[in-house]
Amino acid sequence: MKQEQVKILAIESSCDETAAAVVANGREIRSNVIATQIPVHRIYGGVVPEIASRHHLEAISPVVQQALADANCSYEDIHAIAVANGPGLVGSLLVGVSYAKALAFALRKPLIAVHHWQGHLAAVHIEHEIEKPFLALVVSGSHSGLLLTEESGSRFLGMSHDDAAGEAFDKIARALGLPYPGGPEISRAAERGLPDYVEFPRAWLPGTDDFSFSGLKSAVLNYLNQRRMKGDEPTEQEICSIARAAQEAICDVLSAKAVAAAQREGVKTIALVGGVAANRRLRELLAERAEAAGLRLCYPSPVYCTDNAAMIGVAAYEKWLAQDWADWDLNADPRLLIG
Ligand code: KG4
Ligand code: ZN
Repeated sequence: MKQEQVKILAIESSCDETAAAVVANGREIRSNVIATQIPVHRIYGGVVPEIASRHHLEAISPVVQQALADANCSYEDIHAIAVANGPGLVGSLLVGVSYAKALAFALRKPLIAVHHWQGHLAAVHIEHEIEKPFLALVVSGSHSGLLLTEESGSRFLGMSHDDAAGEAFDKIARALGLPYPGGPEISRAAERGLPDYVEFPRAWLPGTDDFSFSGLKSAVLNYLNQRRMKGDEPTEQEICSIARAAQEAICDVLSAKAVAAAQREGVKTIALVGGVAANRRLRELLAERAEAAGLRLCYPSPVYCTDNAAMIGVAAYEKWLAQDWADWDLNADPRLLIG
């Protein structure tokens, strides 16, 4: 007799996307619904937490219903409810956590709590078979770090001292007059930019696996201010070239340090995950350098790089197998630590 698949309804609401997905056996994405608030926050140049929570409240029910409908599932077909309970914006997280708790309680199904970064990390397993140990370059709007994943567990080898890579993209984009979110805008502008128009400094932080991007942000701001003080406003074409130079500085450091850490640790595979993993130049440069070093590089499709609930459902399956249920007093934790 064919064994029934374990179907997890996963919810993600840590920032400005309300998302729900149904994932079968931790690999098969039966549905993946994302209601983005980007147009709402764009006029403010970034996410406004209070507005984000209110929009999550409006979107969560229809998004969950849609995820069930797309997966051709009823509530009874679902085996467990999973939710990202941190880190993120507390008001946004609370909407997903409260909804998931209420649903699990009413349906008498287990509740599974997933760390948001564990979700990003799990996203790479959707389309790739990866054996441990591997090194993950986790790059999002709130976090940048190098995570070594071994049979015995995961540990961060290094992380950003200041801005996350995505935050650097967003802040530099804002300085260049590009809309929120800055990452995809810089990537698009950079395609039209000229190479070697200007060079920005890189913070290598030698002897560590850490990153720092606040110096780059200041360098771009200083460069723009110096030009503007002389009445030399950059043209649209020049903005594209400046965006290209800033993107190059970020991708250069991320890719070189990831490859160096993988070689030193003796791992053969690098997983590139998180919202910034959608960046075309980062994928290209890291692929080039990984190949030259004899390393395999894996990254999710762009839809699984930025925030989504499918990745939460994939990560939750490990916990299902371990029967690692969350308690009914589960709370949103904006600064949740990994592990
Ligand atoms: O993982 P994510 O969706 O949310 C967080 O967990 O933070 O990442 C969002 C970040 C934003 O900073 C956004 O600008 C960046 O990922 N991002 C990109 C690209 N797409 C999204 N950065 C560079 N290039 C992209 N194509
Ligand atoms: Zn994220």
